Amino acid sequence: MKKTMMRFTLLGMLLSVFMPLCAQEKKIIHVGTDKLDLVMQVSEKGRLYQTYFGEKLKYPQEYQNLNWWVNASSDGSVVRRGWEVYSGAGNEDFFEPAISVKHNDGNRSTYLHYLSSETQSVPGGVETIVKLRDDVFPVEVTLHYVAYAKENVIRTWSEIRHQEKKPVVLSRYASSMLYFSRSSYYLTEFSSDWAREVQMSTQQLQAGKKVLDSKLGSRAALMMDPFFEVGFDQPAHETQGEVLLGTLGWTGNFSFTFEVDNVGNLRVIPSINPYESPYELAPNTTFKTPDFIFTLSSEGKGQASRNLHAWALKYQLKDGDKPRMTLLNNWENTYFFFNEEKLGALMKEAKDFGVDMFLLDDGWFGNGEHARNNDNAGLGDWEVNHKKLPGGVPALIKYAKEAGVKFGIWIEPEMVNPKSDLFEKHPDWAICYPNREPYYFRNQLVLDMSNPKVQDYVYGIVEKLMTENPEIAYFKWDCNSPITNVWSPYLKEKQNHLYIEHVRGVYNVLERVKKNFPNLPMMMCSGGGGRCDYEGLKYFTEFWCSDDTDPVERCYIQWGFSQFFPAKAMCAHVTSWNRNTSIKFRTDVASMCKLGFDIGLKDLSENDLAYCKEAIKNWNRLQPVILDGEQYRLVSPYETNHMAVNYVSQDKKQAVLFAYDIHPRLYEKLLPVKLQGLDPEKRYKVTEINLMPGRKSTLKEEGKVYSGDFLMKVGIEALKASQTTSTVIELVAE
Ligand code: GLA
Repeated sequence: MKKTMMRFTLLGMLLSVFMPLCAQEKKIIHVGTDKLDLVMQVSEKGRLYQTYFGEKLKYPQEYQNLNWWVNASSDGSVVRRGWEVYSGAGNEDFFEPAISVKHNDGNRSTYLHYLSSETQSVPGGVETIVKLRDDVFPVEVTLHYVAYAKENVIRTWSEIRHQEKKPVVLSRYASSMLYFSRSSYYLTEFSSDWAREVQMSTQQLQAGKKVLDSKLGSRAALMMDPFFEVGFDQPAHETQGEVLLGTLGWTGNFSFTFEVDNVGNLRVIPSINPYESPYELAPNTTFKTPDFIFTLSSEGKGQASRNLHAWALKYQLKDGDKPRMTLLNNWENTYFFFNEEKLGALMKEAKDFGVDMFLLDDGWFGNGEHARNNDNAGLGDWEVNHKKLPGGVPALIKYAKEAGVKFGIWIEPEMVNPKSDLFEKHPDWAICYPNREPYYFRNQLVLDMSNPKVQDYVYGIVEKLMTENPEIAYFKWDCNSPITNVWSPYLKEKQNHLYIEHVRGVYNVLERVKKNFPNLPMMMCSGGGGRCDYEGLKYFTEFWCSDDTDPVERCYIQWGFSQFFPAKAMCAHVTSWNRNTSIKFRTDVASMCKLGFDIGLKDLSENDLAYCKEAIKNWNRLQPVILDGEQYRLVSPYETNHMAVNYVSQDKKQAVLFAYDIHPRLYEKLLPVKLQGLDPEKRYKVTEINLMPGRKSTLKEEGKVYSGDFLMKVGIEALKASQTTSTVIELVAE
């Protein structure tokens, strides 16, 4: 045994003998993974403080050496202030709280005291449950932390309850709170818009607050994504340095507050956005916050992303362990203009093309003056359009069967066009002001999902389609409008609950869908990537990253989303956006995620068709590497004129390298791409795949065998000097 170890074991024994006697033993709560420790301590006055969050401490005995307080004055005098784990408004802390409660007597302060804690094992991890209670008011908060040991991910949420006589009003209800003391903090945010999802930008946090939030209700991530990165002491780097990645599992208004206090410490507060949502909590009912999911890596954000990917595939993403279907979508090919024969022909083409499924998009429903021939009418009327499709969905399924492909269908069930039978019958089912002229986003309104009758109706859309057509193999579930005209006819005087109850209503429906149709894969879509959160992904097998399928833009978008989501969750389709780029470049970009096509196959040349068929076969063969392997981001499009990413299978016997040349400069110096994650001892054969018909690889390394060590230290000359070209390389261990 090493000397230091012996010393600490001895110390541990001594401590365990003497501590009870000196009554000085600190009450410690520890949440740990293989590489991380989050340590909390109960102060002499019974309050709970975070004393450590960082790389795992080797000797648990030393948790006792941590102090609950930090010096909170900048002039050197000792002012003790703790990092209260769930800080209440009105207490002696002068910064942003986690919780704010207006009690029955009007008092607005909350001082939470430690009551008890316990642990239990849950799938993949250990859950720590900590109970806190105000010492004056009967208000309780239960903190939950699930630590996933191997993945180094922590999922945390809080539950608020009380036994006051009348409802209390919650105006803050954070999921959790984390504190950091470092020299500097660099926040990477992901701002968005239609066709411009996940634009990454980084800034140093200075004293005061920075808030990332959404007030859109539904399609909530349209302008800001519900995730962030913080680099400590330096901007988040791919392979080195300490980085925090966090995301909120909430398909509605979210907020992340980053506050640097007077002594340069940072607190991070993830929450449902309390904007316009003071919540009246009745006695003996529980307010459960959404999950905050986070990881901390001391080896850069690449490792942090892999932590989240591994966790998501095992424990969160619907069917994370199952393969995915390639598909042909008709949206950009036909828009609203199709009929049975046309679709039947497309299904045959899909089969010949080699994809698994045909996905029928918008425009198949609504009749008479509410026929869905543009986005003006029909949403809400989920009856097949008899003019376009006289045989209904059953005829389409018959076509699909004959062609030999699966059949999937688009719905946007949470929405209604004022021009619809549904709106004429139930105007009070839509969220809309009773006394103002409504304004419309994409000519539609959002259904009031807080209303249980509306929930039944929305669930009924899926149930009816599935009962009548059990062979429907897939849904693309869209959501194109934020909540506009923010008034719920159902909630009446409780309008302040609308943003929250609406999202809960959506989950009620999704829960029923998942329970009754457990094997139904679904795409979460929201006018592109307006919904992309991990609570949604409990119900959806994948999400649509963006309507922007220009492969150049997609490089940035897929790079951005890959920070938080595994390739398996990210749909990427080959389309006609940016026709200046080759079909090879477009397909190679889409192949690093879940591959699909949304393009008129008739418009493709013979060569392009042959190339695509080959690429689909390759992608299917390599699904276990791309979708289930580990991802390494090698060359950033944000920092260079190229992008490169490699995937390595779990057993490290196979790898795929995707290298893209976006806009290289003339005579630019091209560096070899150094791979990551290979087994240095294994020898890998290098083969370029996805070549245009008749083309031979010009790779220097083609057909040769190299050790993983060599490939990671010297690399492959995979980058080129030409605009929008790509190289896909398969590596197989001998
Ligand atoms: C949204 C989706 C598109 C398509 C259209 C149909 O914009 O993002 O992929 O389904 O709706 O109206």
